[in-house]
Amino acid sequence: MLTPRIAALLTLLLASSSLGQRARRPPRPPSPISTIQPKANFDAQQFAGTWLLVAVASPCRHLQEQGHRAEATTLHVAPQGSAMTVSTFRKLDGICWAVRQLYGNTGRPGRFLLQARGARGPVDVVVGDTDYRGFAVLYLERARQLSVKLYVRSLPVGDSFLSVFEQRVQGANLTEDHTLFFPKYGFCEAADQFHTLDEARR
Ligand SMILES: *[C@@H]1O[C@H](CO)[C@@H](O)[C@H](O)[C@H]1NC(C)=O
Repeated sequence: MLTPRIAALLTLLLASSSLGQRARRPPRPPSPISTIQPKANFDAQQFAGTWLLVAVASPCRHLQEQGHRAEATTLHVAPQGSAMTVSTFRKLDGICWAVRQLYGNTGRPGRFLLQARGARGPVDVVVGDTDYRGFAVLYLERARQLSVKLYVRSLPVGDSFLSVFEQRVQGANLTEDHTLFFPKYGFCEAADQFHTLDEARR
């Protein structure tokens, strides 16, 4: 009969042999976002404040099919040491909602990890480019699907920002067909406590 001690040992051996097998598998190709360089010397203090979402390029079909439901969206960014608290404001059925999330520190400036709810796992975020005062290009990757977002500080959107974004979209192997533009009116100023989801404090 197996004593508990032996049973524990067998469990350990099984675990280590399956780890060994995992290590011998051919390595997976690097995830797309690991090839994206963050903005050099990214400065979260300068990145703080309000950003308006202009466009998202994503390979995700769902996003394109939902295109007619795109709502004007803003981010409010507050640095927290090397991390950032990011609140997203948008309307749902005519009511303003805020979702507060923590862009966690990864030890590399401009690269963050967002522990999002749901089974699809965490989201990697990279601030790929920004001039802090005019525009920002953010990359997000979840389940190895890379999307690219353009934000601006104010409207109208400068042509130079759009061309930077287009180049970034091509660089991510996406096209205009993958790009969804967001409305430039109907932004939320605030959301009350009943319409705020605090994901940062879970
Ligand atoms: C785009 O495709 C090329 C060629 O397949 C590949 O080398 C590159 O890593 C891809 N870039 C991204 C960001 O996925």
